[in-house]
Amino acid sequence: MAQTLRPPLIAGNWKMNPATADEAETLAKDVMAGVGPAADVHVAIAPAFVHLQRIDLVLDGSPIGLAAQNMHWMPSGAYTGEISAAMLQDAGCTHVILGHSERRHGLGETDADVNRKLHAALAAKLIPIVCVGETRAEREADHTRDVVATQLEGSLAGLEADLAPGVVIAYEPVWAIGTGLNATPEQAQEVHAFIRAKLSERLGAATAARVVVLYGGSVKPDNALELLGQADVDGALVGGASLKAADFLAIIAAARTAAAHKRGAAR
Ligand code: PGA
Repeated sequence: MAQTLRPPLIAGNWKMNPATADEAETLAKDVMAGVGPAADVHVAIAPAFVHLQRIDLVLDGSPIGLAAQNMHWMPSGAYTGEISAAMLQDAGCTHVILGHSERRHGLGETDADVNRKLHAALAAKLIPIVCVGETRAEREADHTRDVVATQLEGSLAGLEADLAPGVVIAYEPVWAIGTGLNATPEQAQEVHAFIRAKLSERLGAATAARVVVLYGGSVKPDNALELLGQADVDGALVGGASLKAADFLAIIAAARTAAAHKRGAAR
């Protein structure tokens, strides 16, 4: 069957870094300077909330997307410390990361929370990047597929097929995040193919073939090409390596190379 070509996306999750807006601006400028025309590889960066507006000004006119790392599902009201989808859109965001494992496991975020956020994000025309992934104990107990299937089902509940291609999924095995221990390309491909099969059951094969599925967890310049070369790995959600412009740019270059190979193979 002909392979559907999905535009690769490389997203940098800056987490609670860097400490100052000046440093964030420098990092964004360095990424911008090196990224080149981003038509073949979509790129997004996710600074901390307080740096979003400043980075939006920096990115003005650039094809680099601006992502938030979280949001609340309610449109407004008495939710101390929270940020709405409309606020993110007003701050210039194009994407929002939802259900990152550091929120699921560190802060008790549930699939139902992620699902409410998904619908609010889509209503505000933000592209949600929905994270799923198993812990080490779950993988060792051979529960990876069950865990990922449950997270997908809960997080994407009520998602209509026509909106699904506007959603990005990020498979991030928890044991690979920030550990330097990435999933092997084979492990990543296996779960990505499983995710696409699950999406296909729910949304139909044609729609599932259009959904971009990222891999995240210790993606570095030296493992990016092999991971991104896998048929169902459409890009990466990059944490640590996105804080060094040279490393992040090397990962973007690897995505470009992998996409060219995939285009060649699809001909
Ligand atoms: P890492 O983080 O690249 O530092 O492992 C990935 C993530 O948390 O999205």
